[in-house]
Amino acid sequence: MLLPHCRLKPGDIWNDPTGKHLIGCGDAADLDFVNKIHSQVPPPILAIQDPPYNLVFGKQLPVAEFIDWCRKWISNCHSVLNKNSALYIWLGANQNDHFQPLPQFMTMMSETDFASRSFITMRNQRGYGTQQNWMATRQELLYYTIGKPKFKVSYTEIPKVLKGYYKEIAGQRTENTERSKSPNIRAGNVWIDIQQVFYRMEENVNGCYAQKPLKAIERIVESSSNAGETVTDFFAHSGTTLLACEKLDRRCVTFDLDPIFAEICIRRLARFRETGKTGWQLGHPFEKELRNTNQIAENILLASVNRTSSIS
Ligand SMILES: C[S@@+](CC[C@H](N)C(=O)[O-])C[C@H]1O[C@@H](n2cnc3c(N)ncnc32)[C@H](O)[C@@H]1O
Repeated sequence: MLLPHCRLKPGDIWNDPTGKHLIGCGDAADLDFVNKIHSQVPPPILAIQDPPYNLVFGKQLPVAEFIDWCRKWISNCHSVLNKNSALYIWLGANQNDHFQPLPQFMTMMSETDFASRSFITMRNQRGYGTQQNWMATRQELLYYTIGKPKFKVSYTEIPKVLKGYYKEIAGQRTENTERSKSPNIRAGNVWIDIQQVFYRMEENVNGCYAQKPLKAIERIVESSSNAGETVTDFFAHSGTTLLACEKLDRRCVTFDLDPIFAEICIRRLARFRETGKTGWQLGHPFEKELRNTNQIAENILLASVNRTSSIS
């Protein structure tokens, strides 16, 4: 039902009429496609990757196969990045199965040219498993680099409250908050100030089950790129990296295997440009085609199941 309303089919690339961004429908593991979409722009200096966790073509894979697949798109990513670049990867860890695929993924990365730089945890405000276990509220974000990319320290909106570290400077007794570069605390590698996306937020894109918060992606983009530079994201989904790049004046190259998500990205960008809104909140991207909000998730799921069975 939704596919006839999607502009892109596998292998296609949409050129932003303003000449800024590129949105594609393609496979992250397909080097020809990855090269094709990046051939039109300067090499990205930042990649933000959010792969499906252990699901490829909608199928749960044994961890070794998932890691083999990750090795391919990581290698493709490496081949298109600038020689001084940052790579961020969101990855889940299954606490009921020895935290896979996180440790296996880290080991695979240790065999590449990327240097490990940080292991960031973003704390969700809502969680699961509250009665029999510690409530699961974390999202893991790995930060790697090649060469020497730029990095800008990021501050939260949380004021510094701890005082009492005194130091004498030019004969004056100064207190730590006076010496700070900011009155607020740094983001550091534990992010506690970002709300996960839920249906009441303006940025919510109904039908996108794995949308990352815009604030998290903006933090990454601001810390690891400059205005005008290229940022890439091989797993576009709701287009969060695209929106962050549009807001912060970066060029974004992004694509998704699924034509529906590629279409959603095109529509989300157009909506932002027309209305300044970052998402649909209670509405959804196919409002003209589908009246009922509940139908959007069903249709996306159905289209994806049909594609999976035609692939396998
Ligand atoms: C976890 S979501 C990304 C969420 C995204 N960061 C956001 O904020 O909206 C993963 C996306 O990867 C896409 N995908 C799965 N396999 C892919 C592949 N081989 N190549 C490109 N995209 C793929 C899925 O269709 C899904 O939309």
